Amino acid sequence: MKIWRVMELINWTADYFKKNGIQSARLDAELLLGHILNKSRLQLYMDFDRIVAKEYLARYRELIKKRVERVPIAYLTNHKEFMSLSFYVDESVLIPRPETEVLVETVLKLQSDGSQVLDLGTGSGAIVVTLAKQRADWKFVATDISPEAIAVAKKNAQRYEVAERIIFLQSDLFESFDESMKFDYIVANPPYISSNEIPTLMPEIRDYEPRIAIDGGPTGLNFIDRLVAEAPKFLTENGQLVFEFGYQQDDTVGNLIQSNPQYTDCDIIKDYAGIERVVVARVGSRGG
Ligand SMILES: C[S@@+](CC[C@H](N)C(=O)[O-])C[C@H]1O[C@@H](n2cnc3c(N)ncnc32)[C@H](O)[C@@H]1O
Repeated sequence: MKIWRVMELINWTADYFKKNGIQSARLDAELLLGHILNKSRLQLYMDFDRIVAKEYLARYRELIKKRVERVPIAYLTNHKEFMSLSFYVDESVLIPRPETEVLVETVLKLQSDGSQVLDLGTGSGAIVVTLAKQRADWKFVATDISPEAIAVAKKNAQRYEVAERIIFLQSDLFESFDESMKFDYIVANPPYISSNEIPTLMPEIRDYEPRIAIDGGPTGLNFIDRLVAEAPKFLTENGQLVFEFGYQQDDTVGNLIQSNPQYTDCDIIKDYAGIERVVVARVGSRGG
């Protein structure tokens, strides 16, 4: 039986991934082997000549097969980094995206002390857990329609010891809320891709990420329409709604907010690629 050493195995796998149309072939080969051997990429390079034991080879082979079937790396390693924190992820949650870091940074720049924050559609808990880590005096409610997602978010909250400041609630948007519940900030990264665009997405997203996390209905705006209409009832005076939206949805989202008299102003924030990505909308009486 052939003996495989670390670097030779990575080279073979990267080549195999490339032939199978995986774009980040070498990186993926390294990440998967690092996951199996519990080593960083740097450690792999330092151990380049080390023999890989048979049982690790068998596990690596399984992951290679799944990656070629286009299962995303984050689901194979159960890990995704977001705002320098390590989140547990599996196929019940969206893999947190770098664009969403802009949403979190926007919220962190808002002025408030002792804020009550609602994270709607929390998924892995990436947003709420990061905010809770950064703001020890804030209190949070995190919701999702998916009980499996709530379980993942709780796990991440426990990992970072912020679970006692977050109430988790399964709810279809605000359906399980009563109007006495008021928040200083309501934040969300909603599903915003239109249904007919979904078949055109990369297989990693189309075939593996939860449909409910990405599909925003025929126009992509199902969740956003409801969110903009219903959020004011649950915001404190001068409370703010902050949410992410999709590519070129900025005009539609801006018009939606400006045509609703409950909002006084709205700012659109760009992501690192210069694309309009996040809206901050304030409630209150216009001109008052
Ligand atoms: C785009 S993902 C965002 C996940 C996470 N907040 C993040 O930024 O990585 C949208 C989330 O909204 C949830 N969701 C979809 N429809 C919902 C609804 N009607 N009410 C509550 N949550 C919903 C999905 O289950 C999913 O977790």
